[in-house]
Amino acid sequence: MKTGPIPFPRPSRGAPPGRFVVRDPSGPDRGEGILNTTSVAPQDVIRKMLAGSSELPVLPTVATRILEEMKNPALNARRMAEFVSKDPVLATAVLRVANSALYGGRTEITDLPFAMVRVGLQQVKNLVLALVLRSRMADPQVYGPVGNELMDHALAVAFASRLVADAAGIESDQAFLCGLLHDFGRLALIKALRESTGTKKGNLAPELMALVDEHHQEAGAVLATSWRLSELVAEVAAHHHHPERVTAHQPMVAVVAYANALAHRLGLGGGEDPSVNLVSHPSVALLGLSADTINDLYQHLPGLFSTARSAMSG
Ligand SMILES: [Fe+2]
Ligand SMILES: [Fe+2]
Repeated sequence: MKTGPIPFPRPSRGAPPGRFVVRDPSGPDRGEGILNTTSVAPQDVIRKMLAGSSELPVLPTVATRILEEMKNPALNARRMAEFVSKDPVLATAVLRVANSALYGGRTEITDLPFAMVRVGLQQVKNLVLALVLRSRMADPQVYGPVGNELMDHALAVAFASRLVADAAGIESDQAFLCGLLHDFGRLALIKALRESTGTKKGNLAPELMALVDEHHQEAGAVLATSWRLSELVAEVAAHHHHPERVTAHQPMVAVVAYANALAHRLGLGGGEDPSVNLVSHPSVALLGLSADTINDLYQHLPGLFSTARSAMSG
């Protein structure tokens, strides 16, 4: 099974895991983050972050409110429409998604309560959260160009997780959220390393991206806890590359692990990786996916993703 994500550069030959070294950053393929602005070892930066003693990315206030609302059993379509209508950009985006081919409406909807009915309250909550995170968390100043790619990957895995959960007969509302947030540990690590290296533009150096890759699951769990997300979201973030190793929330971890594999195999939100084996993946046995189901997922996901991506990008 492919354990690492694809879209990130691999470490270069003999990459030192220790302190930063000064190199010529003008090389064609070299990212930033290897400048001599600090003498702090990247491992120390990461250790501090994982211990919760460094500043983590802040969840946008509006996203915090959405997550709070999502826990409120009294939330209904009218209340959600009121909430969304307070933010004109969000309201326009929700209408655009409701009118997109994703929800197949023939008549154009111009009013939010109707959009709620067409899309469904739970899915509106998910979409609103995805829209907010996409617009506020992909700041190239903070995350570099890879931030956008990460948000595309998050969206692909969110939609894929819902499909996989449906196919496996698992409650799929939480699947979208778990898929959306599965790799957010990368954002926290990238932010911490960029700050410690004084990186302003470009991506981090391959050596540092390899460290991000190595520690992103643990960082995801730290972030989920700091954002007061559910234990389910934290567990998925912590184990989505090894669903066979967990006991808590294993079905959802397996769903997101498989959605992640599908996104990498198909190159949705990153480079295509033909080495991902969708048949021998541990989630196939854990979820009891048949060959026909795997084939259906493989066929449907690219169209769903491109429709979702264009509907959500405006
Ligand atoms: Fe991951
Ligand atoms: Fe991923």
